[in-house]
Amino acid sequence: MNTDLTGPTALVVVAHHRADSLTAHIGDVVAARLKEAGYAIDLLDLHAEGFDPRMTVADQPDWDDRDKVYSPEVRAHMERILAADVIVPVFPVYWNSVPALLKGWIDRVWNYGFAYGRSKPRLAGKRMLWLGLAGAAEGDEYAAWMHDNLDRVLREGISFYTGITESEVAVLHDAEGEPQIVDADGNFTKGEALSGEARAAHYAAMDRTAAAHVERFLKLA
Ligand SMILES: Cc1cc2nc3c(=O)[nH]c(=O)nc-3n(C[C@H](O)[C@H](O)[C@H](O)COP(=O)(O)O)c2cc1C
Repeated sequence: MNTDLTGPTALVVVAHHRADSLTAHIGDVVAARLKEAGYAIDLLDLHAEGFDPRMTVADQPDWDDRDKVYSPEVRAHMERILAADVIVPVFPVYWNSVPALLKGWIDRVWNYGFAYGRSKPRLAGKRMLWLGLAGAAEGDEYAAWMHDNLDRVLREGISFYTGITESEVAVLHDAEGEPQIVDADGNFTKGEALSGEARAAHYAAMDRTAAAHVERFLKLA
């Protein structure tokens, strides 16, 4: 948890069940780039912190009471969101969407009366970069469809809906280090897995692309 309250703060939300995942690694790359740019980092590793994505009675909205007091766990997450100037969820794309771990964080924490349901949105003015990792190859027809889908659901459906007008979805492709192509007829083909230097170069390029997305979105020098 970030305790430095002097500069802008970035909440980097890592949504993966393995600490040694590529997703967690990219989360670290993003955090390092933001730190270098002067941001105080609050790295929220949902799995490591034991976040339970299942909705609970305590955290379900009460449509008659937008001031409902949610569970202490959820209120602590709300404070972390409020403290952030920039929010960057880093996640593997699962079924053209976010994994259940991240979806549950949105469901439970981005709740009625906090993230939406007020004439003056509390989250207005924050910026949000959704950074997904996908097995799909870049340039694939399917990849464009997937990006469109993510953009509608995440940028429009969540960020914009909650008053965060400056938001973007970026996808890192080929996250499995082996080409996966779905052609126009829906046929799936898998190429040979990368190894050795080619593999190292592939992942180094992915690090650079992740940092470049952060730089472009936040207009960092
Ligand atoms: C349950 C599941 C669903 C997936 N769905 C998609 C998908 O819809 N599109 C896609 O491009 N990749 C999909 N993938 C591939 C993941 O995005 C990819 O394995 C992941 O980003 C690799 O990062 P990691 O090593 O950190 O898990 C899926 C993987 C899993 C396990």
